[in-house]
Amino acid sequence: MSVLLQTGKVYLLRKQFNNIFSKCIFYRKKSDVSRKFVTFDEIVALRRAEARRSLVVQVNSESSFNELHGYCSKYASINDIHHYRNSGGEHFMLIEFNSEENLKDVLKSCSSHQKDVDVMGVQSPFLWFRASSGVREKYEQSIKQLAVKDGSKSVNEEVLYEELLNCDSVSDQIQMLYDRTVLNDIGVRLRYMVARQLEVVFSSLYANIRVQPFGSSVNGFGRMGCDLDLVLSNNLDEHNLISFVTQSSQKHRLVYQEKKSEGARSPSQRHMELLGALLELRVPGAGRVQRILNARVPIVKYSHELADVDCDLCCNNTSGVYMSELLWALGALDARVRPLTGAVRSWARAVALTNAHPGRWLTNFPLTLLVLFFLQQKQSGPILPSLNYLISLAGKEDIRVAEENLNCTFLRDLNKLPTDSYSQNDDDLQTLLFKFFEFYSQFEFQDKAISINEGRAIRKPNSLPLYVVNPLEQSLNVSRNVSYEECERLRLEVRNAAWHLESCLDGHKSDDWGILGLVEQKSSRGLKKLLRVGNSHRLVSVKDLFKDNDDVEPSTEGIRSKMEKFKKVDKLTDTNKEKKSEMRFKNSQTAREVFRIRRNKLI
Ligand code: GTP
Ligand code: MG
Repeated sequence: MSVLLQTGKVYLLRKQFNNIFSKCIFYRKKSDVSRKFVTFDEIVALRRAEARRSLVVQVNSESSFNELHGYCSKYASINDIHHYRNSGGEHFMLIEFNSEENLKDVLKSCSSHQKDVDVMGVQSPFLWFRASSGVREKYEQSIKQLAVKDGSKSVNEEVLYEELLNCDSVSDQIQMLYDRTVLNDIGVRLRYMVARQLEVVFSSLYANIRVQPFGSSVNGFGRMGCDLDLVLSNNLDEHNLISFVTQSSQKHRLVYQEKKSEGARSPSQRHMELLGALLELRVPGAGRVQRILNARVPIVKYSHELADVDCDLCCNNTSGVYMSELLWALGALDARVRPLTGAVRSWARAVALTNAHPGRWLTNFPLTLLVLFFLQQKQSGPILPSLNYLISLAGKEDIRVAEENLNCTFLRDLNKLPTDSYSQNDDDLQTLLFKFFEFYSQFEFQDKAISINEGRAIRKPNSLPLYVVNPLEQSLNVSRNVSYEECERLRLEVRNAAWHLESCLDGHKSDDWGILGLVEQKSSRGLKKLLRVGNSHRLVSVKDLFKDNDDVEPSTEGIRSKMEKFKKVDKLTDTNKEKKSEMRFKNSQTAREVFRIRRNKLI
């Protein structure tokens, strides 16, 4: 950012960029004044530079701020310090220094590692702050404050649902759901730090190493806590394999001797095996390493305990990054795309159409393509252009070729896009969500395929139940795993959702009105709904729902009528407490849910 800082004017981006990326302030040359959109490459460069001058330091608590700030300021000037806790409750400070040079000075000052025979020191941007020994140094109170405290804490769902309940319109609910759950600044910073750590640790093993996040961490559709997809590549030219082969390589006369992979097994699998071992042995914070080597793209999964992120690492899968760039660009074109997609993703998770584990069901990626495709429909004015249109406008600077000569060329700079090719209707988010469900309740899944390249349905080339064309490799179906039953469930659930939203149009706000009835987990929805009492929507005490005598057989009476009874009893709280304690649950699943809620102290 500092380079950009020197060159010119400050631009706060429009509200439509009100997300992880756009919360940054961008600095551009004066000649760029008319530009409305920033490119994906600009954002990535900014985040990578930020990571190169940042460190993550484990501390005792947020009150370590002053001491850490004072100590580090002795070596280098600090831009900002962000505090977060991981799920183990440990405290960390992400420090952004003024320059990469500054950070090198700090690293030179680091003491060696623990003098433990089993531990071999390794350089990485993850450190810890040792308590001072002997006389404690005194640091003046810093004028700076923590930039953020407890920054990676996810929103409390119950609080969020209460807020959603109090919104004025479904559109407001959708926007609020997005604002409260979108991957925030520290979430993005930490993901780039995890990528940076691999670059630092592996840099002498892989020349020109570049480890880049892709998927929802960077494509603008990520939520707090989303996984981190990482790709390790070591191309001399970052972007263009063609130019690497034809031009750039000719300029470089000194060439690295290479190590060819020996042995019968596939070199890519062996590399992934090696990366798995290195992660286990040499990467601080990396744990629970799993190798998935027989997949089309072999990956190593691991959990980064210091950054609190689950990671999927693969090699040389640049097309994944270009795919993220495409999704990012389409999401940036219109302010409604990301909140709408967020609502659809939340709904799909709640009705169990999607699932984090691979299987015969839909995943977030094809689901996102379904939303983008819907927004390309021309009936009431398209909100997004087709990919073919973006390809037709591409120039020389947009040429990208990924592995296996996959052409990933499309217009990158959206400022060049004619303004009448996008945002061509004024539908609010509520209308769009309703139309999305309606559109797919009528979609002819048995004959038609979804293609964001065309922006219109095309004939299905085979009889797989759901066909979503891979935008960058059109001969592939990104939903090939989806079973007939799951596709049928999709059709059923979109109809249910359309029906639910339509029933909200009468203006009556029940306690699952609007988006609430769509995004609360089905398993707990009924229960939570019943636990909200009257207009105050307060939750009743769960312990009151159980009989003191635990070995009594569960009653067969319906939960609804029991809750009704309970509500009546609740009104008489002061006068007749015993009646309350007669509450029993019909089935163990409900009881478990109540226990879960009680355990989480939500009530
Ligand atoms: P969540 O992780 O669920 O939040 O979403 P995600 O978009 O990150 O999806 P996922 O982690 O499953 O995949 C990461 C990225 O890999 C996606 O964003 C796509 O760019 C790419 N990807 C996922 N599935 C496929 C597929 O079937 N084919 C291809 N070519 N790319 C895929
Ligand atoms: Mg992902």
